[in-house]
Amino acid sequence: MAHALNSTLLGHLPTAATIQTHLNQNVHSLTSFLRSIPPSTYTSLFGILTLLYLSYKWALPKPIPGIPYHKASTKRLLGDVSSMVSHISRTQEIHTWMSAQNTTLNSPIIQLFTRPFGPPCVVVTDYLEAQDILVHRTKEFDRSKFIADVSGGIVSKSHFVMQTNDEFRKHRKWVQGIMATGFLQDIAAPYMYEAGQDLLQLWEQKARLAKGRAFAAAHDVHCTTMDAVWPIVFGADPGNSNTKAQLRLFDTITEVDLPSSLEEEAVLPRAPHPEMVQSFLNLMHSVEACIKSPMPVLSHWLLRQTAALKKSIRNKNELISREIEKAVVRAKSTSAANKEVKCAVDDIVRREMRLAEKENRTPEFGSQGMSDEILGFIIGAQDTTATSVTWALKYLTDNPTIQSKLRSELRAGHADATAEKRMPTFDEITQTQIHYRDAVIEEIFRCSQTEASAVRTAVVDTEILGHFIPKGTEVFLMGNGPSFLAPEFKIEDSLRTKLGLESKGKVGVWNHADMESFNPERWMVSGPGGKVVFDAAAGPMLTFGLGERGCYGRRMAYLQMRQLLSLIVWRFELFPCPEGLSGYAASDKMAHSPQLCYIRPAKIVY
Ligand code: HEM
Repeated sequence: MAHALNSTLLGHLPTAATIQTHLNQNVHSLTSFLRSIPPSTYTSLFGILTLLYLSYKWALPKPIPGIPYHKASTKRLLGDVSSMVSHISRTQEIHTWMSAQNTTLNSPIIQLFTRPFGPPCVVVTDYLEAQDILVHRTKEFDRSKFIADVSGGIVSKSHFVMQTNDEFRKHRKWVQGIMATGFLQDIAAPYMYEAGQDLLQLWEQKARLAKGRAFAAAHDVHCTTMDAVWPIVFGADPGNSNTKAQLRLFDTITEVDLPSSLEEEAVLPRAPHPEMVQSFLNLMHSVEACIKSPMPVLSHWLLRQTAALKKSIRNKNELISREIEKAVVRAKSTSAANKEVKCAVDDIVRREMRLAEKENRTPEFGSQGMSDEILGFIIGAQDTTATSVTWALKYLTDNPTIQSKLRSELRAGHADATAEKRMPTFDEITQTQIHYRDAVIEEIFRCSQTEASAVRTAVVDTEILGHFIPKGTEVFLMGNGPSFLAPEFKIEDSLRTKLGLESKGKVGVWNHADMESFNPERWMVSGPGGKVVFDAAAGPMLTFGLGERGCYGRRMAYLQMRQLLSLIVWRFELFPCPEGLSGYAASDKMAHSPQLCYIRPAKIVY
């Protein structure tokens, strides 16, 4: 049977001679075809293939010699982009991915290929080195181009995105008065306090409606910091207060639908933002959307083509021009009521008048530079501070012993307010030194990683830790890895600069055993006479950057934290939240924000 089948199949197969004939015919026609192609076509084809190969080789990531990197990434056109993007889509975070690569490659300095076809960026995780670069080596490392790429779409003329040049210094002069003690105490603190009082009222209302359930707090905190910064910048403007709008809504609500379980959140209504505030928020969110893009300039350009963003830009321009014009009128007026500076725009306008007079030129009130400074101030101040407060709520909620010690220290520090059964005033909060409160705030900034890196561009060919760094390289100085939240790398003294070495020992080193935990006591040291006092140099923290280009608004951020935390902890006990509404997963937006921020506050009756 099998044999019969084989014969049948073989019977249909061509013989070897037939195959040879076919082959000869095919080879012949192929040869004739190839002969018919003119030699110039071969040359072009060869040229195209060579070009493609060379383009491919050119487009592959080019490492900076000597600095550790992932070898496999240099064989991929997209370098480290896929690893970065997969981490972002899994976790919503980017900074943790960056410093984790130092740990994986076991080096305080590494390079990553995160911009397709662009040069690598360098990532450093070492406090002493970061401090040396930020404070001493400002002629070699300047404001990063990355910052300009990400924020330039809406504040291209703010000093925030500029290199440290004459233009930068001119803009700094405009805004320097806002961080002066007088402005902070007399103008900023009262507005912060008022916004804080509104927040307390709102949370009392929410706690009443939630009946013991947790409710989302991040939006309220963001509204509060906007309610503080808006009048600090433009002057009193209750019509644009987000929290007052929320309070008006809550005044009309007596009951809400609640889940039966106390483990589930109470979803509470939310009033829309006033239109003008919403426009500013849209602009801020547009920057957020570009931070994680490998092509931020293009991403932001695309966003600016949308009708919504065009309208927001128009609204913002109109409002800022109007406020500057009003401030100019006030500055030129001789009436006693207009003599005093009432807001940041007043201060900026008056400084520019004096500068213009000194330099014998016309004041540039209508310039984009001044407008961008004002928007840049709001962007710099609002989101970062709110984010730190949201982390504060989480740390205090999850650490009841620390929360209650903070409350006792506040009550002891504000003895008059305690005795008189009232809240401390904004002046009392600003003027009274309470060491433990300062330690709690510093620990919140250290752990929260609200801003997890400072970024610089090398403006000359230079070196870091003995490695050559070409001019133009972006250098990320991480504040969330070894040195800060994990033991520092061991680095030979010979690799550091002279000034870097001289700084050794000026700031302490964290105890390796508990670097990741939230522990304000780490900032408390034995002071004169054996008294335990707060020491800002107890150990490394980089949340505000450092040096001439470190955070300009740092003093205002501390003031806002003091005001808000004092008010919240004085008025409420923050009870633990259900597990499903807790946790420390974060999302890197404008700042490094908690994904979940819930509170379960109960009013304290003294
Ligand atoms: C918790 C709150 C804040 C955090 C964590 C924070 C963090 C930072 C960081 C990390 C930088 C870059 C520093 C560097 O590159 O060395 C920065 C710069 C800056 N911050 Fe803040 N900031 C906060 C609050 C504020 C406030 C309240 C303002 C305004 C009132 C502000 C305005 C600015 C400006 C204008 C710059 C740019 C400075 C320059 O380029 O020279 N920030 N901030």
